[in-house]
Amino acid sequence: MTTDLLRDASEKFIKSFGHAHTHAAYAPGRVEVLGNHTDYNEGYVLSAAIDFGTYFLAAPNDTGTCRLVAGNTMEMASFVTGRPLPSPKHTWANYVIGVFAGLHPHGTPATGFDGVLLGNVPLGAGLSSSAALEISAGLALASLYNLHPSRLELARIGQHAEHEYAGVKCGLLDQISSLFGEPDHLVMTDFRTLSVEPVALGDDAAFLMCRTHAKHALVDGEYNARRQHCEEAARFFAGVLPHPVSALRDVSWLEWEKHHASMDPIEAKRAAHPIGENERVLRGREMLARGDLLAFGKLMYASHESSRTYFENSCHELDAVVAAAQKIPQILGARLSGGGFGGSAVALVHPRDAEVATHALQRAYRKAVGESCDIRAIRASAGARVVTLSPVSP
Ligand code: GLA
Repeated sequence: MTTDLLRDASEKFIKSFGHAHTHAAYAPGRVEVLGNHTDYNEGYVLSAAIDFGTYFLAAPNDTGTCRLVAGNTMEMASFVTGRPLPSPKHTWANYVIGVFAGLHPHGTPATGFDGVLLGNVPLGAGLSSSAALEISAGLALASLYNLHPSRLELARIGQHAEHEYAGVKCGLLDQISSLFGEPDHLVMTDFRTLSVEPVALGDDAAFLMCRTHAKHALVDGEYNARRQHCEEAARFFAGVLPHPVSALRDVSWLEWEKHHASMDPIEAKRAAHPIGENERVLRGREMLARGDLLAFGKLMYASHESSRTYFENSCHELDAVVAAAQKIPQILGARLSGGGFGGSAVALVHPRDAEVATHALQRAYRKAVGESCDIRAIRASAGARVVTLSPVSP
């Protein structure tokens, strides 16, 4: 399937520019399995790279302009080398412009490139199509310009593109998951030390992604506001706890319980979520090591409940998926995945139950919401890579 995508991208490249690409890379989207809004609080997340991703194909051109084609619409955007600014018109191109600028912190090279991006990560579904684009573009352009950023530097370049070119003050979860994924493993990341460890899933765990069609307005503003509240809450705890607090990672649930009544009520609610999530991720890793998927699934449900009540980043449709999942015996756990406010929920099932669970969930969701949701099985997959497959000849 991804080979077809590469062939398609390669043909679109020739059609757009009249010559073949010389460099290519692939990067997957991601699913966040446990640990919501913990990354920018320097906490923990269990996530996975998924088997949907984006190809970025490129070739140098000898002009001072970079040309980009979105392979799904064949829309073209261009920007000049030097110090490129975000495009107000082609917002999809901003992730690549930001990566191009981030790869060359002291001014971009005089010669531009031609590029085509083509992926199969559903857009707006909370599966990080933007990180897949940033990382595939980062890897392909680094090889084109003969640069050698480390994987973590590449993750930061993608994050910088989100912050400065797309206006979302995200953490590093999406980029790290896309880069460090391994087949049949979750990625356990400590966002303070940025250490990454694969956690085996075993043969009994499979994931279903349930995409609602809810896309709420002001999502980015809501995300940034949550981040700000968490940072303010961390400052509060730094003032009252006897030990150093530089992020909510340093605050335990017991400490939250002791002090929350004297906090600003909104900040107290927001802080409860990442603090609880950090403890759930650590417990979740132990449950996986023991092969206790039932207990792991319960943590997923608890995570969703915390999103719903404390962080208020769920919505009617995501709540409907999780409420329906709770009544289906084959589903072991479910929760919203990613930023929230719409997008997708992830459900844990035994692989043999995936089909039955999908039908049951679809039926229950339609009954509750009055429309259908897209459910697909996803596999924890390998992370981003440079692609050396020879291009289609013109
Ligand atoms: C989005 C962000 C990530 C992370 C998640 C929530 O996916 O891009 O950095 O904060 O939301 O966990």
